[in-house]
Amino acid sequence: MDLVIRHANLPDGRIDVDVGIEGGRFAAIEPALPVRGAEEIDAAGRLVCPPFVDAHFHMDATLSLGLPRLNTSGTLLEGIALWGELKPDLTQQALADRAMAYCDMAVAQGLLAIRSHVDVCDDRLLATEALLDVKRRVAPYLHLELVAFPQDGLLRAPTARANLVRALDMGVDVVGGIPHFERTMADGADSIRWLCELAADRGLRVDMHCDESDDPLSRHIETLAAETIRTGLQDRVAASHLTSMHSMDNYYVSKLLPLIAEARVHAIANPLINITLQGRHDTYPKRRGMTRVPELMDAGVNVAFGHDCVMDPWYGMGAADMLDVAHMGLHVAQMTSTKGVARCFDAVTTHAAGVLGLDDYGLAPGNRADFLLLQAGDVHEAIRLRANRLLVVREGRILSRSPERLARLDLPERPSELTLEFRPGSIS
Ligand code: FE2
Repeated sequence: MDLVIRHANLPDGRIDVDVGIEGGRFAAIEPALPVRGAEEIDAAGRLVCPPFVDAHFHMDATLSLGLPRLNTSGTLLEGIALWGELKPDLTQQALADRAMAYCDMAVAQGLLAIRSHVDVCDDRLLATEALLDVKRRVAPYLHLELVAFPQDGLLRAPTARANLVRALDMGVDVVGGIPHFERTMADGADSIRWLCELAADRGLRVDMHCDESDDPLSRHIETLAAETIRTGLQDRVAASHLTSMHSMDNYYVSKLLPLIAEARVHAIANPLINITLQGRHDTYPKRRGMTRVPELMDAGVNVAFGHDCVMDPWYGMGAADMLDVAHMGLHVAQMTSTKGVARCFDAVTTHAAGVLGLDDYGLAPGNRADFLLLQAGDVHEAIRLRANRLLVVREGRILSRSPERLARLDLPERPSELTLEFRPGSIS
C-alpha cells in the first residue's frame, strides 16, 4: 500500500487500528493490517479522524478586522454598519488575497471543506468573482462551495434578486437568503418561496440565514420547512443560525421540531458568533441565544456547527479551528455527557459533511483518503485540547505536518519534557 497508519484510535471508539491507503483511497481499516506500506506512520494511540468541515462561513469578510476601523461596541449592528463602510473600498485582489490566506490557515487546521456565503448585494459582484477564482485555485486541496447571500435582503435591496441570479449563472453553488431581515414577516415568507422555487428549478441546494434573532416570533423556519416539502427539496436545504428557537415558546417548539425533521432540513448553529451576538438587548438574565442543538438532534435533525466569522467586522477572534467551534458549542449547549461530546465532534465533521452532501467522506474502505492525525487519544481529548493537527492528509497525500506540541520544563531539579495530552489514569 502507499501509506499505512499504525496503531490509530478512531472517533467511533475503536482503538489500535491500522489504516491502509492505496491510490488516494482507504483500502482497509482494521487491526494489525498484514501488509507493508511504502510509507508507514505510527499513530501511537492518537486519533485518526475525517477532516473538519465548516458548514457556515463568510470568506468575503474574513481577515478584514480593523478595515476601515474596529467594531468598538462588538455588536451585530455596528458590524453590519462597518461592512457597509468597507464594501465600497473592496478590491477583487484584496478579497482574493485574504481568502487565500484563510484557506492556507484552514488546511493547516485540518479544515478541508468550507461552505462560504458571499454577499451578492454589491452590484459589481466583486466578491463573487474573487471567491469563484479562489474556489478554482484551491480546488486541488480544499473543497470550497459558495452560497449566493443577499445580505441586505432579497426583497429589501432593489437589485438583490437580479444579482443573486447573476451569481448563480456565474457558478455559485447554493441559493442563500435572509428572511428575518426583510421588511415584514410576509416579505420574509415571500422570499423563502421565491428562493426555494429558484433552487428547485435549477437543481440547487438552499442555505438561508434563518431567524438570526432573539425574537421568539421570528418563525421563518416553519415556512422554510413547509416550502422545502412543497418544492421537493428534502435533504437539500439548510437553515443557518435559528437563534430565535432559543427564545420560542416550548409548546410551539414541540410542533416545530417534528416539522423540521419531516422536511429533512439541516440545522447549522454557529456557537462562537451566537454566544457573542445574541442576547445583546437583555440585561440579566442574558439569553445564550444558540439554537436548541441537542433537542434538534434528538428529533432526528442533522445539526452541524459553523465557524461563521474569523477576524471580520462581526467577530475579532477565531483561527479556522473547528475544534474551537465544537468546544464552544459543547459549553453553550451544555453537551458535556459522553454522547454530547461525541455529537459536538460530529457537528464539525460528519454532520457538516452531510449538510454539504459530500460524497466519499469518512473513514471507510473505498472512500477518498482524507483524514487527520490529531495529538489526542480520543474525541473528548481532541475537543478539550483543541488538539494539534499532526498530519493533514487529502487523497492519501500529506498536505500539512505539525511537530508535537511539547513543553520543555526547566524547573529547579525537575527538568523534563511535557506533552499537552494528559489522559485520566496516565499517572499511577
Ligand atoms: Fe452567517
